[in-house]
Order: sequence, then structure tokens, then C-alpha cells
Amino acid sequence: MEPIKFLKPAADFHVHVRDGEMMKLVVPTIRQGGVSVAYIMPNLVPPLTAVKDVLAYKSRLEEVDSEVTYVMTLYLSTAITPEVIHEAAKAGITGVKCYPAGVTTNSDYGVNSYVPYYPTFAAMEEENMVLNLHGECPSAGHIHVLNAEQEFLPTLKDLHTRFPKLRIVLEHCTSAAAVAAVKECGPTVAATITAHHLSLIIDNWAGNAHNYCKPVAKLPSDRDALVEAATSGSPKFFFGSDSAPHPVVNKEKAKGYSAGVFTQPNVVAYVADVFAKTGKLDKLEDFVCNFGRNFYNIAEKPTDWTIALKNENVIVDPLLGTGPGAVVPFMAGEPLDWKVEIV
Ligand code: NCD
Ligand code: ZN
Repeated sequence: MEPIKFLKPAADFHVHVRDGEMMKLVVPTIRQGGVSVAYIMPNLVPPLTAVKDVLAYKSRLEEVDSEVTYVMTLYLSTAITPEVIHEAAKAGITGVKCYPAGVTTNSDYGVNSYVPYYPTFAAMEEENMVLNLHGECPSAGHIHVLNAEQEFLPTLKDLHTRFPKLRIVLEHCTSAAAVAAVKECGPTVAATITAHHLSLIIDNWAGNAHNYCKPVAKLPSDRDALVEAATSGSPKFFFGSDSAPHPVVNKEKAKGYSAGVFTQPNVVAYVADVFAKTGKLDKLEDFVCNFGRNFYNIAEKPTDWTIALKNENVIVDPLLGTGPGAVVPFMAGEPLDWKVEIV
């Protein structure tokens, strides 16, 4: 089979690259995985809640690899007033990420209620900024990790009704219910789908911390709905890997291990594997390259490279880096039928 060459590299609309040594280790894997546009999440420690801090972080990323287009976000917290939104829009910041308090890695400063943020959302709507929602309700009472996303969907619909022109992305959607809800909303609402949620189900993370992320992978029927949405050709569903590196020591603790699956070095290959298995390779370029770019309409740095997909058997590297800060990639040591080449 001839390699499949894309017109442009992929665009990944949900990326965690951290800071410091971890950033230096992980940022080079963005391009290596076939991606030239990375939408950067703000859940650093402490989180990015000031425009100047986001811009300083962008400069640090540029120092590691200046050829990637980094699309920047703020972390929604009480510091993000309408004034900050106007300042952020002027500074070229694209989105605001909303984490419900306590649902995932570094979400301690997240929101408990959306109501106090209505003026902020109104300012974002005015500035045409994007609201990126981590769509889960915190576990409590009848809510648990398997229904946390479904329980959040009325909030998604409510925010969309209140702010119909506000572009909203339901991040890393994991359930058939979420896919249906996003389809029911107007064109300002879209969803990202990760690489790992296209193959994982609950059994794969119950007993394997490396497959544990939030939102958790759910039932086979949910995974099938995600594959169907990603391969459907609907522009409402596009790629955001949610690649989330954690030091191996934090993943391999007996308990209290970190949530996050690290996919960056092979992101496009993982997705290609699933699309090929379902006979939908013809839909891959739209999903990983075009639909996200169209939704966001961001200014991109020009690139003089693209990617070609080769139907070739490769074994995923067991580890990125060395020592306690090394990171275990998704499917470490397992075979993949697709390889991405930079051309
Ligand atoms: C992410 C992380 O590690 O930063 N973890 C995860 O399980 N997905 C945070 C997030 O996106 O929820
Ligand atoms: Zn994430």
C-alpha cells in the first residue's frame, strides 16, 4: 500500500506538556507525532490565570520548538474577570479551560458553580474566544466516574442556550450520551475526541494505571459511539489527544496514582490504526487535520513539512526519558500497524 500523504501536519486541540524538565522532554514529541498545531492546556502548578503568565509559558515552549504553533488558554478561576478576557483577546489567547474543582489532575482551583462566570462567558462571546469544558460533575452522592460526564450534559446545554454565539468545546468526550448531546447543539458547539478513547474501555484501566485518565474510558457501546462520531465526517468532532504525561513514579504508585494517558509521540498513528480497522482511513485527514482548524480558525505558522502514513508494523517505545521523571507512552511495547513519517 502506498503511504497516505496529508496536505498538512495534524492539529491537536488538547495537549498537556507541563513545564520545566517535563516540558523539555515532551515538547519535541509534538512534531514527532505528526502535529504542527498544539492547543495548550493551562493546568500547570500553579494554574495559568494571568495573561502575562500564559505569554511567558508560550515563550518557554517556543524555546524548545519554535516551529510548532502553540494555541494558548487560560485556566478559569475567580481571577478570570471580563477585563482579563478583553486583555487575553488582545494578547492573542484563544480559549479558557474550565475544570470542575477536584475532578482531575491539577483541578483544585477549578469551578464549583458556573453562575458566577456568566459575565466572563459573555465577554468571551463578545471577543469570540472559545470555552473549553472538562465535562464532568464531581463524584458525590449518586455521581461516580462512569456517569460523571452524562450528568454534566444538562450544564453544557444550559450554557449553550444562554450563550448561543459562544464557541464551546466539550473536551475529550467519552460517552454515547455526550456524542448525542453535542449533535443536538448548534454549530457553535463541538467536541474533541482523544486517540486512546477510540480503543479503551473500562476493563483496560481497571488494573492498569497507564490507561487511567479522566474522564475514564467507559463501555464498549460508548467507545463504539466515539469511533462512529470520529469517522462520521461530522465537523463537530475533531482531534484533541489530551496527551497527559506523568512521571512514571506517579503512575506506578500503589494508590492515588495520577490521571492521564501519554500519547503524544504516536498520536496520529494510534488514530490511524482505529480508522484503518473500521475501513474509514478516508475520513482521517478531516478528523486530525481539518475540522479542528476550521472550528478554531487560528493563525498558523507556515510549515515546510507534512506527514505520510505508512502501513508498517512498529513497536511502541516502552519509555520516554530516563529516571523517575521518565514517561510511559500509551501501548508501550505493543505493536501498531501504522507509522507516521515526517516528509
Ligand atoms: C489531565 C492531566 O494530567 O493534566 N489528566 C487526564 O486524566 N486527562 C487533565 C485533564 O485533561 O483532565
Ligand atoms: Zn486534558
